[in-house]
Amino acid sequence: MSLKRGVAIVHAAFVALLLWSPGVHAQGLTREELSYLEEEFGTCLKSPTLNLLTPQERARLHDIFVFDKEWSRAYPYIFNVRLFGVLDTANIRQCQEWSREHSGSPCPPLADPAHQAGKNIADFQCNACHLFGTPDAPGFFRLARAGNTSVEFLSQSLASGHQMSPIHLTTEELSALSHYIASLTCGAKSALNPTR
Ligand code: HEC
Repeated sequence: MSLKRGVAIVHAAFVALLLWSPGVHAQGLTREELSYLEEEFGTCLKSPTLNLLTPQERARLHDIFVFDKEWSRAYPYIFNVRLFGVLDTANIRQCQEWSREHSGSPCPPLADPAHQAGKNIADFQCNACHLFGTPDAPGFFRLARAGNTSVEFLSQSLASGHQMSPIHLTTEELSALSHYIASLTCGAKSALNPTR
């Protein structure tokens, strides 16, 4: 192995070590905690929800991770409800501010208006069970990450054996839902990014 290659490998290992660092991140949460939030609630580092939390709210999230470990092992759903309660304060605050400046409009619209139709259907017919999931229903964030969002998959799932069956949706509605659910990841076009 050439010296140059050896130096490159040592350098790469050093950078990897720095990135892996298990310490508390600038957001007041550890890398592990951030990746859990991303997996369950789609709140990546860029997401407004996380950025709008006050330092105290982020500390509260960190405390739930540290002190509610028993809950997370025995009752993952209740653990998620506790985390979501804190995350949602940022969303509620954002809507409050928006509605003060825009009478008649409760929350800021999504950055990509193409996702709005699907979000409306999901909010009224699916999200009570599927936003971040229940003990039985998988969360839409998980489906998005797994890539299970095709129109065929959605229509098959709703057709039979589904807890809420029969839910009848048109192909257009299924397609809107499919686009919306697929966007629940941390990408630039994510439906998680409102206009501001
Ligand atoms: C009352 C709760 C509830 C509502 C409302 C609901 N679901 Fe479900 N869904 C479930 C449960 C529970 C399951 C797991 C399978 C089962 O027991 O039916 C499920 C399963 C699914 C699956 C299959 C997931 C997988 O990985 O196999 C999809 C897709 C799905 N639902 C989509 C939807 C869509 C789209 C809507 C709205 C139009 C919706 N659901 C509304 C409870 C619900």
